[in-house]
Amino acid sequence: MSSTHDHLGGAEPELPADGELARLYHQNTSLTAANLLEFEERLSTATAAMEELYPRIGISPAAPQIALPRQRGWWGLDRLIRCRRTIRQFIGRPLGMAALSRLLLNTAGITSRPNADADGVPWPRRAAPSAGALFPLEYRLAALNVRGLGRGIYRYQTMNHCLEQLGEGVPVEHLGRVSLHGDLVASCGAVIGFVADWRRLIVKYGDRGYRFALLEAGHAAQNLLLTSTALGLAAVPVGGFIDEEVAGVFGCDTREQHLVYLIIVGR
Ligand SMILES: Cc1cc2nc3c(=O)[nH]c(=O)nc-3n(C[C@H](O)[C@H](O)[C@H](O)COP(=O)(O)O)c2cc1C
Repeated sequence: MSSTHDHLGGAEPELPADGELARLYHQNTSLTAANLLEFEERLSTATAAMEELYPRIGISPAAPQIALPRQRGWWGLDRLIRCRRTIRQFIGRPLGMAALSRLLLNTAGITSRPNADADGVPWPRRAAPSAGALFPLEYRLAALNVRGLGRGIYRYQTMNHCLEQLGEGVPVEHLGRVSLHGDLVASCGAVIGFVADWRRLIVKYGDRGYRFALLEAGHAAQNLLLTSTALGLAAVPVGGFIDEEVAGVFGCDTREQHLVYLIIVGR
């Protein structure tokens, strides 16, 4: 059988096993205790590099500019989007269960249960879109200061809109240290961890599924952030953390589950 590589005369390269590239990418971009200093040094010099780079990109001075109409009237959604900010300060008041419930439902919960789709499958629909309806993400919660909920690690069970308790207590200082946001963790209501399940992630799209999981995390995160804004809560999306250590706090099996995003939320 001919292949696109025949003309090069070399042996046909072996295709990587399903998910191998994605795994390599994830591992090689993980923060660890060993490479943290290098990462932090990079952050400290980034501002100067950005100031140099930014005025030069995304603008074509010679291109004609077409003015867009001014906004007429503001919808509720417009206001939420305009008001959303990353607020890195909590006054330490507890989160209520009603607020937590709404946050989780709007992040990733089931928003409708059609009887059946065209193929006769009664797939529930959720708050955030998911490539191929795979829903490779699950949402875990380190509850630190939630009225009516003991400190512990929980998994949001979307099907029944409930919390499954995975562990009692939260090692607050350790979580603060390894999430690199100690002050916020000490005063927040909860830390929500977005966990990608590797099997669900590669089953349909192979390595490309990793991209989709990260995109899906962005959709769900924006839902969470806008809901926080609507509820008058403060929230901080966090992408910089010691991957395996934080995953351990959330009780992830790091062979099959990868923590991709954290959102720290509180009052
Ligand atoms: C993917 C992602 C990762 C982020 N990681 C962090 C983080 O680790 N720590 C932090 O304090 N803020 C983090 N942020 C928040 C950004 O710093 C913030 O969105 C940005 O400064 C713009 O401010 P605004 O959200 O108030 O508009 C992150 C935001 C995104 C989208």
